[in-house]
Amino acid sequence: MLIAEVDPDRAAAQAGDHQQRFQLVDPGRADGFGGDALEDRARYPLAIASEIRARCGPDFVISIRFSQFKEVDYGARVFATPDELGRFVALAEAAGISMLNVSSRRFTKPEWPDQEPTLNIAGWAKRLGRLPVMTIGSVGLSSDIFADLFDKQDLSLQIAADLAELARRRPAGEFDIAGIGRMLIANPDLVSKVAAGEVDRLELFRKAVHLKHLMGSMEPGLVEESRKVEGV
Ligand SMILES: Cc1cc2nc3c(=O)[nH]c(=O)nc-3n(C[C@H](O)[C@H](O)[C@H](O)COP(=O)(O)O)c2cc1C
Repeated sequence: MLIAEVDPDRAAAQAGDHQQRFQLVDPGRADGFGGDALEDRARYPLAIASEIRARCGPDFVISIRFSQFKEVDYGARVFATPDELGRFVALAEAAGISMLNVSSRRFTKPEWPDQEPTLNIAGWAKRLGRLPVMTIGSVGLSSDIFADLFDKQDLSLQIAADLAELARRRPAGEFDIAGIGRMLIANPDLVSKVAAGEVDRLELFRKAVHLKHLMGSMEPGLVEESRKVEGV
């Protein structure tokens, strides 16, 4: 296995929003990787994680990225209930995963608001297991990555408000690490600027500028219209 040969000290396994090759596999397959049950859908990504653990040893850090939604379908629910998520987290622990990297379109989105008015999917994962959790999704920005990249939504900065919200959620035990994507691309010095109290000097992420090379090569129809489910 390549990971064992190149000898890094950590690996991130992808079962996230648009990693078809390593996603929680959908029902409908007959090869054991993809029945209806959560345990069947989770078998493939967790088998790979187990193998990484077996080959790279006990001290190697393995995180797994997962999302509740899918890029091709905002309304999709990988985990229908907290019980399903809890079963997945337990399986991830048993497979030797060290950390959960939980992606959402926006980190403030409550996952099961009828049960907990503000707890996001990362907070639920943290509550339901023992693993450290990373929360990620639109930190510092008003729109999620897909609305931003594909739906031409206007984007504005809200870094101070989001940092305050993260500062509230972390001591409440809702996550351990916050992940930042686009704002870090736009501001590689984000951490030092925030530490120096220079939040006002942070630049807004603009895809036309910061992802110029990628946006130019995007093919029409790359992202299916089916993902646009209202109100999710
Ligand atoms: C240019 C770019 C490439 C990305 N590539 C991946 C990827 O390969 N796999 C993945 O799971 N997420 C990928 N993401 C999503 C980020 O990991 C992150 O979840 C997303 O940008 C949300 O964080 P943000 O709102 O802070 O940008 C990518 C994001 C950007 C902007």
